[in-house]
Amino acid sequence: MQVSINVNGEQRSHEVEDRTLLVHYLREECGLTGTNIGCDTTSCGACTVLLDGESVKSCTVLAAQADGREVTTIEGLADGEELHPVQRAFQQKHGLQCGFCTPGMVMASVSLVEENPNLTEAEVRAGLEGNLCRCTGYHNIVEAVLTAAKEKQGAAE
Ligand code: FES
Ligand code: FES
Repeated sequence: MQVSINVNGEQRSHEVEDRTLLVHYLREECGLTGTNIGCDTTSCGACTVLLDGESVKSCTVLAAQADGREVTTIEGLADGEELHPVQRAFQQKHGLQCGFCTPGMVMASVSLVEENPNLTEAEVRAGLEGNLCRCTGYHNIVEAVLTAAKEKQGAAE
């Protein structure tokens, strides 16, 4: 089938199989390999992207389900040279080590902060429950998300 998906602001059309997963579509058809695959059980969150602004695990969504919709991947977050505030906060707070979970973690965090900039630490931890990190112990990731949320609150005042 033919799908037409707006990926990071660019309209793309490709022929895909009905069963093609969104993550495979992004990596193989679009060449956007920033979205990682860490499991095949919907459990790690490494493949998280935004679908119409909501975070989804792209290994659980078919490319066909994204037809006519907007997808944002880690490659689409920065504005030119300028990092997205959540990316900047991860950098400043050292919210990564090996970086494998980071694209998914950042995308999930963007959606969390968008939904509620008044996040508490417990809410950040609950909101990122579906994203696993084997390296950091989560402390700095949580700090980064709280920092980005504070920045958003400041911008809204
Ligand atoms: S690769 Fe999608 S949740 Fe692990
Ligand atoms: S930084 Fe290595 S898995 Fe999270």
